[in-house]
Amino acid sequence: MSTHTYLSELFSLAGRVAVVTGGSSGIGRGITDALARAGASVVVVARREAELKATVGELEAEGCRAAWVSADLGTAEGVRTAAEGAVEAFGEPDILVNCAGINLRPPFGELGEDVWDTTMTVNLKAPFLLGQRFGPGMAERGYGRIIHITSQQAHRAFVNSGAYGVSKGALESLARSQAEAWSPYGVTVNTLVPGFVPTPLNTQLSADPEKVAALAARTLVGRNGLVDDFAGAAVFLAGRSSAYVTGQSVFVDGGFSVH
Ligand SMILES: NC(=O)c1ccc[n+]([C@@H]2O[C@H](COP(=O)([O-])OP(=O)(O)OC[C@H]3O[C@@H](n4cnc5c(N)ncnc54)[C@H](OP(=O)(O)O)[C@@H]3O)[C@@H](O)[C@H]2O)c1
Repeated sequence: MSTHTYLSELFSLAGRVAVVTGGSSGIGRGITDALARAGASVVVVARREAELKATVGELEAEGCRAAWVSADLGTAEGVRTAAEGAVEAFGEPDILVNCAGINLRPPFGELGEDVWDTTMTVNLKAPFLLGQRFGPGMAERGYGRIIHITSQQAHRAFVNSGAYGVSKGALESLARSQAEAWSPYGVTVNTLVPGFVPTPLNTQLSADPEKVAALAARTLVGRNGLVDDFAGAAVFLAGRSSAYVTGQSVFVDGGFSVH
């Protein structure tokens, strides 16, 4: 068997359909590019159309198959729009990546019900609802991969974890509940746990060179994350070779969490 064939059997996503929420920016964009380049047809879900169109345009120019749906995952109606639009493009998905997320950071004493609700809706309820929509079908067809993107703050409080940390902790529990329900039917559910990755999510923090350097120093590798750092782990968790990996939190953080 050639090396190419062996690697394809392990990792190719040819013929698979993926939905990536938040796939038009930052870490989600890195994961979208990786899944599409590994052969999956990818539907990207987010709100802003210009970013969505640019993402899909760039992937199509590389010869990849991609489509986009504009929807606000902060409302149940938006989640429905996302799910319906996603299926229209390439049919029912084999892979669901929940990467859309928000981090609003009021001081904890000022954290009100509005920030709590918005955070929980986008970061936790939307992944739950999309899982309810797509998970049973994956189980029926005997193959599925659900990947949630969580955070260091699912495991420890720092830099004002607030409601964000709570939503990410619950998302890891959701992954375990989904894994318990669907793993017997070929649907694995795992989370990717980033360290600090400069993206539009944290422009304020990334504009402070001292804080950026301090965060890099907390890793073992000695640098902060890049969106491309998630490519290999995402392709692995989306593909057939991760069939026996489920309910896990996979840290892609340069050793941040063990330092
Ligand atoms: N960057 C880090 O250091 C870091 C660390 C740990 C975890 N994470 C997690 O990684 C994920 C991606 O973060 P990122 O840093 O790559 O952020 P980002 O660049 O700001 O990307 C966020 C994505 O989510 C989409 N999104 C946000 N709110 C949405 C909504 N209501 N409906 C639909 N789409 C929505 C955004 O598109 P629109 O704005 O157009 O909707 C965008 O595509 C998040 O879950 C975040 O919590 C990031």
